[in-house]
Amino acid sequence: MHFTVLTLFPNLCKSYLSDSILKRAISKGVVSVNFLNIRDFSKDKHKKVDDTPYGGGAGMVMTPQPLYDCIKAAKSKNKGPVVFLTPQGKTLTHTRVKNYTKFDEMILLCGRYEGIDQRIRDMLVDEEVSIGNYVLTGGELPALVMIDAITRQVKGALGAEESAEYDSFSRKLHGKKEYPHYTKPASFKGKEVPEVLRSGNHAEIEKWREKHLK
Ligand code: 6GU
Repeated sequence: MHFTVLTLFPNLCKSYLSDSILKRAISKGVVSVNFLNIRDFSKDKHKKVDDTPYGGGAGMVMTPQPLYDCIKAAKSKNKGPVVFLTPQGKTLTHTRVKNYTKFDEMILLCGRYEGIDQRIRDMLVDEEVSIGNYVLTGGELPALVMIDAITRQVKGALGAEESAEYDSFSRKLHGKKEYPHYTKPASFKGKEVPEVLRSGNHAEIEKWREKHLK
């Protein structure tokens, strides 16, 4: 899966991708992410990317020219859908995450300020996605959420230990719930790990877990 992220703040995103599972998926070559800084496409002499809204109102709106040129540049290399991250979009669900894995490439457009010029949405955006019913300062965290959630569904991105097929959310979707997890030490601040889990009796452990699904 190849992601191109269009943002005014590439550095906000990069640190998240440079550690842990995302880092490993990227170094394995299962996933790749590159960034285009929307400001680099501004033809304004001060590299301006926003302006006051026609009709008045609070806040600034991202102007169409830098967005247009940035999206066109992205589309010349990335043939996937252009997804605009906005609180007005369709809410991301596990089902939608799984559906996105059918693409090999995606372009993620992050907005800032009050929004982006509507003409860009009309002309160049294929889909609008929100990550929940609250408002963030920009689309960067939502883009990272999408990359993270999609990556862990891509074959080969997770180690055997982390297999997405058998994770708690997949189980929930199949009508099953999650059992309580414990690790060492066996006793912590006077609280003991249930004896049966330490017994090595796999049939009993299975029964206990079945009974404690939440
Ligand atoms: Cl995609 N963007 C912003 N700015 N806020 C959000 C969101 C997206 N999803 C939930 N809140």
